[in-house]
Amino acid sequence: MSVAALANPRVARPALSERVAKRPMGAPRQLALRVNNAARDTAGSGGTKGKLLVLGGTGFIGSKICERALSSGYDVVSISRRGDPPGDPHRYPDGVWNRVDWRKGDCVQPDTIATVLGEGGFVACIHAVGMLLASDINALASGSGSKPSPGATYDDVTRVTALNAADAAARLCTAVPNADTAGGGGTGGTTSKAPVPFVFVSAAEARWTFKAPVAWLEDYLIAKRAVEARLREMTDAGEVRAACLRPSLVYCLDKPAAMPAVGAFYLGNLLGLPFVDRPVTVDTLASAAVRCVEDGRSTGALDYREMERLAREL
Ligand SMILES: NC(=O)c1ccc[n+]([C@@H]2O[C@H](COP(=O)([O-])OP(=O)(O)OC[C@H]3O[C@@H](n4cnc5c(N)ncnc54)[C@H](OP(=O)(O)O)[C@@H]3O)[C@@H](O)[C@H]2O)c1
Repeated sequence: MSVAALANPRVARPALSERVAKRPMGAPRQLALRVNNAARDTAGSGGTKGKLLVLGGTGFIGSKICERALSSGYDVVSISRRGDPPGDPHRYPDGVWNRVDWRKGDCVQPDTIATVLGEGGFVACIHAVGMLLASDINALASGSGSKPSPGATYDDVTRVTALNAADAAARLCTAVPNADTAGGGGTGGTTSKAPVPFVFVSAAEARWTFKAPVAWLEDYLIAKRAVEARLREMTDAGEVRAACLRPSLVYCLDKPAAMPAVGAFYLGNLLGLPFVDRPVTVDTLASAAVRCVEDGRSTGALDYREMERLAREL
């Protein structure tokens, strides 16, 4: 019995690969299984740098990562519970909405990610799944209106999803040699035993050595630190090459409501408050994430200065 409950984690369902294989010709696709044919037809035809899995591609940050990865030459597959990104498809530039292969699935479930990576051709994975508040109010705090699953915990949404992803990526992705030195890497490149690039969107406050002022934030940070610690072990063991991006506030000019908080963080950082990092734009973060995949060397926790440098290199 499979636990890859892609649409409803509480209902036992056959594995994704089985359901895809058994769907009769011409039968309507189940929403949970929908594969974007446009993405497959236009992006999967070779000449690309390979397939990149973005977890949480429907999110504020994940959707920008999808866009950057596409423009950098990857075939992009996203997994999230909603599947399609929210809002008007036309607001996504350069036909991004049509070019990403959007999958619907709950990454807390152990088989969800492995089933997709098992399709083959993946060269890296970027984890941008998250939840700021463990209740429906998150829909207001989230830049993409994401609503947590009932009973979701920070441990589930952050640690469990990230470690499901890292374990599956280590087993099922095929890293290409450093794209900088291998002519862009890609499907035509020579495979090697290079550890698989894995990027985790953490948080600046994970570096705090003191307890967070509120319990929910402490729980959020405990989960981020647990992922970072495990990714360090996996990197040391050569299973993955993990980079943990640590943004404080992430912003874009399209969302003016966040600007007062962004201004306060900028000021706090300018004044030298040791626990306040400078905010980064969502473009900077997304470019840094893709650059980490490509540069063959980024590992460990990377703060706003390193993200800005990486973004300039892309
Ligand atoms: N925004 C910031 O200022 C900021 C700052 C520091 C760190 N971060 C970190 O950046 C990451 C992304 O944040 P964001 O601002 O882009 O948040 P967001 O817009 O709320 O995106 C969260 C993403 O996670 C997905 N998701 C949640 N639970 C899932 C599950 N069980 N399985 C699969 N997908 C799931 C959501 O998609 P569905 O709803 O479709 O499932 C959505 O795509 C988070 O880890 C967050 O902690 C953000």
